[in-house]
Amino acid sequence: MSSESPLHGEKTPADPQTGQRSAERIAPARIRTHHLLQLKEAGQRFTMLTAYDGSIASAFEESGVEVLLVGDSAANVMMKSGTTLPITVDDMMVFARSVTNAVQRPLVVVDLPFGSYEISSQQAVETSVRFMKEAGVHAVKLEGGAERAEAVRAIVDAGIPVMGHVGFTPQSEHAMGGYRVQGRGEAGQKVIDDALAVQGAGAFAVVMEMVPADVAAEAERQLTVPTIGIGAGNATTGQVLVWQDMLGLNGGRVPRFVKQYADLRAVVHQAVAQYREDVESGAFPAEEHSF
Ligand code: KIV
Repeated sequence: MSSESPLHGEKTPADPQTGQRSAERIAPARIRTHHLLQLKEAGQRFTMLTAYDGSIASAFEESGVEVLLVGDSAANVMMKSGTTLPITVDDMMVFARSVTNAVQRPLVVVDLPFGSYEISSQQAVETSVRFMKEAGVHAVKLEGGAERAEAVRAIVDAGIPVMGHVGFTPQSEHAMGGYRVQGRGEAGQKVIDDALAVQGAGAFAVVMEMVPADVAAEAERQLTVPTIGIGAGNATTGQVLVWQDMLGLNGGRVPRFVKQYADLRAVVHQAVAQYREDVESGAFPAEEHSF
């Protein structure tokens, strides 16, 4: 991978006075789908994180995250459901609007929830149009491979960018027999074929979830659009994690593919314990907090 990124240097001329390229000055004001393609072509990687509310979305924007995914994992981490199945378009609309209201630069992608796109291409287009009109997202993501190619094509033809999602697809967890790695052995070819099918239908990127690293690497090699991995090794152009997993807010079991970069739950415990102690002792509010 080269060290100079299309998002931070190659596309914009250097300052004529200093000859320097300032990342702040030259970074695109808004990440578009073609920037992700440019990153792949330049051998660069990018980051995607889930976000479901404005506060965390703006913190991720400040941290330089290129893509925010309003994932239907909101069902798990925000609504504490055991699966992603019950979340509705109206639920997702609130999460999506909270994120788009808060950020300028990242590409904001929303998941089409279970039941909102499988019935027909018309249903898929109608749901996607709603998310664009009412929540202001920049793209939609939907789960499935060759069997969803027609829906992907219809949405793309309506002028809406689509991100695919193949391998393990949580909305099909009952059909897949639980949370299981997909594409081991000979089944690897099907994962690659699915990724190629959604790319062929017009998807601008494809998430690959819980697939063997060598299968994801081969898909990344064969596809012209970027792949984005979660539990798919490190050869993909992008990586995505659910933010509460990655920052240690969730508690409970951490999936093998997650790296925890912080322990926010411990930070919360410590801060709230201090707050309670201050309230109980009368130390808070102090004079400076009072009128
Ligand atoms: O809903 C979600 O968060 C996702 C990611 C895990 C890719 O689909």
